[in-house]
Amino acid sequence: MPTEPLPTFPPGFRWGVATASYQIEGAVAEDGRGPSIWDTFCATPGKVADGDTGDVACDHYHRWEDDLDLMQRLGVQAYRFSVAWPRVIPDGTGAVNARGLDFYDRLVDGLLARGIEPYATLYHWDLPQPLQDAGGWPWRGIVEPFVAYADAVTRRLGDRVRGYATLNEPWCSAHLGYGFGEHAPGLRDLAQALQASHHLLLAHGAALPAMRANAPAARHGIVLNLYPTFPASDAPADAAAARRFDGFFNRWYLDPLLRGRYPDDMWAAYGADAPAVEDGDLEVIARPLDFLGVNYYSRSIVAADPGPQGLSMAPPPADAERTEMGWEVYPQGLTELLVRLDRDYDLPPVFITENGAAYPDAPGADGRVDDADRVRYLERHVAALADALGQGVDVRGYFAWSLMDNFEWSHGYAKRFGLVHVDYATQARTPKRSARWYADFIARQPAVAAEAPA
Ligand code: FCB
Repeated sequence: MPTEPLPTFPPGFRWGVATASYQIEGAVAEDGRGPSIWDTFCATPGKVADGDTGDVACDHYHRWEDDLDLMQRLGVQAYRFSVAWPRVIPDGTGAVNARGLDFYDRLVDGLLARGIEPYATLYHWDLPQPLQDAGGWPWRGIVEPFVAYADAVTRRLGDRVRGYATLNEPWCSAHLGYGFGEHAPGLRDLAQALQASHHLLLAHGAALPAMRANAPAARHGIVLNLYPTFPASDAPADAAAARRFDGFFNRWYLDPLLRGRYPDDMWAAYGADAPAVEDGDLEVIARPLDFLGVNYYSRSIVAADPGPQGLSMAPPPADAERTEMGWEVYPQGLTELLVRLDRDYDLPPVFITENGAAYPDAPGADGRVDDADRVRYLERHVAALADALGQGVDVRGYFAWSLMDNFEWSHGYAKRFGLVHVDYATQARTPKRSARWYADFIARQPAVAAEAPA
């Protein structure tokens, strides 16, 4: 197989893997965990492929020590996990469930004992069901419970966690959850989705002071999924459609966080669907970030369309490689995206908090999983990342999605993103060739110097 020359990165650059609570933990009724919107969504017929649920997932809640040992064997330097709000505050508001926090306390100590830096995401989509019953993210009253939850987690885990992200991909929470109905809670209403987006951002900013007070030496930030967007042709109508999609997907989140205002063109385009915003909200949303987490998977190609949206997604070029999700493999998009962010915004240090690919991996007769496609995907994206650093973008770390195969939301267990294969019948973990490639790659990077506190 052809391989790129491996780029080397600055000393101190962190190489990690990422997961999320609902996708791996299982144990949904243990130690006082309350129900989340994903438990409800999975129990609703027709919402998740094959009727899959996160009830058991990778059983990580019970197997976490083995999973940490595995990470240590791979030489992973950092681990991005998420904390399940329904474990910590099962009713969404009110009493903190100490047993829920105990799990993450043990996890963090287990990571530190193995020389792996913990990075925690507070909200990776598993909203306590009682908060959805109260109105969910479109309800302004959700902000305070999120702040209380963020306070409880950071108070307990403190500076042992190197970086805290408030939210993972608020675009998905808002639009897939409340706009397109593809994710929990499965609603379809643009105005609700936009109101949800505002409250997600507001909750993020509102939580930062408590997080900083509780963990002053940790970095605090947010994780966005960003798609470099291209017009389907040179036609001005396609260019306008691409600009609008970029506004919908990227600028609607970047601008309030990094410039303190929603983009004027999108505000005008949304008309009556634009969210209710109160005085002072944008100052809260735009509180300084120590890092921006960027999840990068692919690019978007957009065409003007006579339909009600005014635009539609165009297919990738005929010769484009695609992953099992149908997503175009477009590594240079990572460079283009990072360079553009650096040019257009006053950018804090960046972490690539997710990047990876699904392929239909299965063990061969010898028991090995030879995922050459994923190796190639990772190599090319790491090279694209090196290009962005070479162009002066301040990127501090990279987390491969994902440590292991897991519950891929509405696709259930059918899509495998792991560096490690999971046999869901036995819970056996088998490092794929990509895991060995990543281990090798990390081992060749400059030794990690202990990082000075932020
Ligand atoms: C991202 C999610 C992550 C995983 C990957 C494939 O949007 O943050 O949980 O599902 O996509």
